[in-house]
Amino acid sequence: MRKKIVAGNWKMNTDICEGKELVKGIIEMSGNLPSGVKLIVAPPFTHLCSVGKLLEGTPIALGAQNCADHSKGAYTGEVSASMLKSVHCSYVILGHSERREYYGETSAKLVEKIKLALEEGIAPIFCIGERLEEREAGNHFEVVRKQIEEVLYVLTPEQMANIVIAYEPVWAIGTGKTASSEQAQEIHEYVRKVVAAKFGKLAEEISILYGGSCKPSNAKELFACKDIDGGLIGGAALKAEDFIGIALSF
Ligand code: PGA
Repeated sequence: MRKKIVAGNWKMNTDICEGKELVKGIIEMSGNLPSGVKLIVAPPFTHLCSVGKLLEGTPIALGAQNCADHSKGAYTGEVSASMLKSVHCSYVILGHSERREYYGETSAKLVEKIKLALEEGIAPIFCIGERLEEREAGNHFEVVRKQIEEVLYVLTPEQMANIVIAYEPVWAIGTGKTASSEQAQEIHEYVRKVVAAKFGKLAEEISILYGGSCKPSNAKELFACKDIDGGLIGGAALKAEDFIGIALSF
């Protein structure tokens, strides 16, 4: 059975007080979720410890937004996967389009990051998705295929079993433009096919999340699609009622 997941990517938002208030709100409102829905919150690095403490004893998982491509040492400013493990992160978002675009994250780096996260028992939420010009040129299938092949095809089936994929069309992130449920389902189905070409039946077990202007008003239609197993939520994850509203949309 594929996991249903709603993950909140807080990006570079909230100070520590706001972050703690936000997570308290999420915990308070999360009592009546449909069974089997997994919530993940991914606050900034500085908040992981305090937010993690508040999450103790709840079923909500802690995630980070990135990790280093080295295990330790002289890499000023970086945070390793083992450090994330030590503050009880169980997920890490890797390959977000903002990291690829603004911080030069390449497939080669992402392979290293994913392997290090997996060694620590942290599940990567691996992001893929095309830019507007790539979609307009009709290259979106090709783009996501390449992103998957370059990074996930080097993994063993045991490693792959712990991956969550997030399809996030770059043109839909933070823009208010959501992919239609047909557009999203079409790509999710294709993503599963590309995973199946290498990993066979395992593809049926992998959760594939949709991300890009997902909100309470469109989540129901998106989550009803056969190959959409939940969402990676940016803007709407910063309001407890919206985040929970999305999780109630299954
Ligand atoms: P958005 O961001 O929901 O604000 O579009 C999604 C994401 O970047 O993960």
